[in-house]
Amino acid sequence: MSAITNLEIIFRLEGETLVAKPVDSKLRVRSITVRNLNAFAHEVHEGARFTVLVKDTSGNPRNPSLVVELDRKLLEIQASPLGDDFWMDSMDFALIDAHLQDGQHLWFEGPRGTGKSTLAEKLAGHFGVPICTVNGSSMWNSRAAFGSEAGSNGSTVFRPSDLTLFLREIEDKEDGLAAIVLIDEFGRMVESGEGPWHTLLSQARKFDFMTTQGTIEIRLPKGVVVILTDNPVGGGHMNVQPMDIALQDRLARFRLTYPPQAWETAWLCRETRIREKEAVTIMGAVNQIRSFAVDNGFESGGPSPRRSLMAARLVARGIPITAAIRHAVVNFYEGGDASSDRGRLTTYLDSKNLLRDAKVRG
Ligand SMILES: Nc1ncnc2c1ncn2[C@@H]1O[C@H](COP(=O)(O)OP(=O)(O)OP(=O)(O)O)[C@@H](O)[C@H]1O
Ligand SMILES: [Mg+2]
Repeated sequence: MSAITNLEIIFRLEGETLVAKPVDSKLRVRSITVRNLNAFAHEVHEGARFTVLVKDTSGNPRNPSLVVELDRKLLEIQASPLGDDFWMDSMDFALIDAHLQDGQHLWFEGPRGTGKSTLAEKLAGHFGVPICTVNGSSMWNSRAAFGSEAGSNGSTVFRPSDLTLFLREIEDKEDGLAAIVLIDEFGRMVESGEGPWHTLLSQARKFDFMTTQGTIEIRLPKGVVVILTDNPVGGGHMNVQPMDIALQDRLARFRLTYPPQAWETAWLCRETRIREKEAVTIMGAVNQIRSFAVDNGFESGGPSPRRSLMAARLVARGIPITAAIRHAVVNFYEGGDASSDRGRLTTYLDSKNLLRDAKVRG
């Protein structure tokens, strides 16, 4: 059997995809199951040689097995530390894990739809701790997160918020993570909302909340980690506030990015059951537009994974692929904050012939 070069073998393990680069063609077999793939990705060293059971992309069985050189980076992409339906960088995960065990509060920042909110929920699931989510958009003043006062039978009564009730239920944990509080879209909170968080996130872990019935102490039990999410792009109409520097100093910051193209492609196939070729086409267009958006400083950023998933869902429903990409991805740039970027994108797509019959509407 001749040596195989320049062939990308994609072999499937219980429906998952793993990519490896063949280096020669000796016949030995080692199979890897999805269950131990995560552990395996961390054990294997760059350039390690393996013999694996191979079925190629088109389903033709290759000569029973091939010796392959695993590309550790690709393997890590496939073996996301939080499971197969959510991509995250292994080093970021290791850092976040260490921070959570130390009770360090976090800040997830990044473009639209890069998984900031989902990641906080996934972490709670992964570590088996309760989570309470409040949204900055709904906090018109600093009290709103913790409770409100309302008239009842002629007197004013303080009603604690879900967050306040949640915090009362959590017991101090001296070591490790006890619970997560997610303040989603923190930047949308009106500025005065930041006040209590300064003291809550400091050593004191509490602040005094004056109400008409006296002072109520809000306390952050030990082991409760607060995660703030913030999207630096868009939302100007919402008076998005930049993070106060003193508050920023109390947080470990993570900048989330889009998943690697190979991962997002496989994800679209898994989520929608479209064919791999179709997913590759969608992601090809999405990534060109993402690069273009970065190179041209688009205020509205690149297409989020929500948009690629929307296109894939349309294709799965029988919509032709160019129409699906045009509608879900390109037409995003039509209205509101995004429309100023539209002209340049249209010219670019036309010049590239990227979507031959798919001009931006209008
Ligand atoms: N890393 C990822 N892995 C898998 N799916 C992802 C990932 N990032 C985003 N998604 C998909 O995109 C959707 C949006 O994610 P999410 O709402 O968590 O993003 P976000 O960063 O909070 O967005 P926004 O800035 O709009 O609040 C999720 O439902 C998920 O399907
Ligand atoms: Mg979000």
